[in-house]
Amino acid sequence: MPDTKTENQIENTTSRRNFLQAIGMGTGFIGLNAFIDPAAALAQCAAPPSATAAKAWGRDCRRILPRRPASTLTSAEITKLKDAYAAMRALDTSDPSDPRGFKRQANIHCWFCTESSASVHVHFNWKFFAFHRAYLYFHERILGKLIGDMDFRLPYWDWDVSSHRKLPGAYTNPNNSSNPLFNSTRGMSPTDEIPSEDVDDDVMDAALEAADFTEFGGTATGSGIPEGAPHGSVHVDVGGGSGDMSFFETAAKDPIFYAHHSNVDKIWSDWNRGSSLHTNPTSSTFLNLSWNFYDENKVWRSITAAQVLNHENQLRYVYGPSVISEILPCLLDFVVIRTDWRVTRSLKLAPAARASISKVLGNRGRVRLHLTDVTVPTDKSAVYRIYSSPEAAQKDEGPGGDGYLGTIPVVLSSRKGQHNHVKTRNAVLNITGRKFETLSRAQGPMQLTLVERGAKENVRKPIRVTAADSHFTVADVGQ
Ligand code: C2O
Repeated sequence: MPDTKTENQIENTTSRRNFLQAIGMGTGFIGLNAFIDPAAALAQCAAPPSATAAKAWGRDCRRILPRRPASTLTSAEITKLKDAYAAMRALDTSDPSDPRGFKRQANIHCWFCTESSASVHVHFNWKFFAFHRAYLYFHERILGKLIGDMDFRLPYWDWDVSSHRKLPGAYTNPNNSSNPLFNSTRGMSPTDEIPSEDVDDDVMDAALEAADFTEFGGTATGSGIPEGAPHGSVHVDVGGGSGDMSFFETAAKDPIFYAHHSNVDKIWSDWNRGSSLHTNPTSSTFLNLSWNFYDENKVWRSITAAQVLNHENQLRYVYGPSVISEILPCLLDFVVIRTDWRVTRSLKLAPAARASISKVLGNRGRVRLHLTDVTVPTDKSAVYRIYSSPEAAQKDEGPGGDGYLGTIPVVLSSRKGQHNHVKTRNAVLNITGRKFETLSRAQGPMQLTLVERGAKENVRKPIRVTAADSHFTVADVGQ
């Protein structure tokens, strides 16, 4: 196994310092580390304990079994799922020091996802997919252990399937605290649906057709496409902007978080399967990323990114069929079409560029609009719509309406908003023929504009898009 110490040491030095500061002790009090009870640290959204005591995660010899869509579980499977979460919640009171309790499980996310330290944060960079896969893996094993069934696999909420956009029934029936899968802070009622513009084929295609891992899963310092839409949008939708799911620090307090992330994990799996070009990073910096978790027997474990890349063989689960774009294998390489964005901060297409885009659309190929480092408001968790002009944004007619191009979600780490949130997002929008007509109709340069979805007309404030770069990529379809 590769040496994983460096990353661990860096992270733990920072983590320990933050923890000591959090409990009011200076960095000089080095001897304290020996007394930090790992479980106690996790109880309060504090630094996980030092990696030195963590045992390397080994081999999983469970059967390879499918994770299944949450809305298609049998009643026996729903009972197991509820029993498992009930047992996990029961630990919160019967033994608050047990790291397998539900609150402690949720606090793992709190620690890694608030901006305690940039080197710890597992959002806005390439740790996103690997960290969450590892986190769900141990969570799944603990749930299984608590019901004495290591064949238990997490369900996934496949909101990308149009008939599955309500919260899965198990999580809302009954819709009160007698249900261990319920959370009282949700902004969605049992009959509400995730808006289709957040998770529809345009959004899924933009994610699943990402050309390489940099675009799909990000880099050491930047996020990939699906981490925004659909992942972030669903957080905002379920949390309603103020509930637990709307903020990274509290999101994992809602059991739907784990089914949501199971679907996000499936997107990674589907992307890998979609094309032989869709490969994960091979740099040792990525492969040696590592995190620590308690396993089902309360053993403190370390696991690396390299150890989670093959979920089937290494982590013993598979996913059901993918609704991955059927034309993907036929897409020829994506070709960049530049705009003069850098000059005008508005989007202008030369006639030749318009012509090639139209041609590709005519052949039912793909056209994508890339926006890099879009500055977004960070005063709330919200979904923003992007329009091709300030006028269209002011009207905000939504998908199908004039000038509508897509969405950019913003999920804040913390409710208090006192952290230093990353203030830019990358987005890739799938440009259909209809959207392109909108763009083509515009006279002169287009002024891309954001507007908060759901804002009432009298308070609607269109925001001119500021971004480092904007360009199109097009891919034609092979015969
Ligand atoms: Cu770590 Cu969906 O967030």
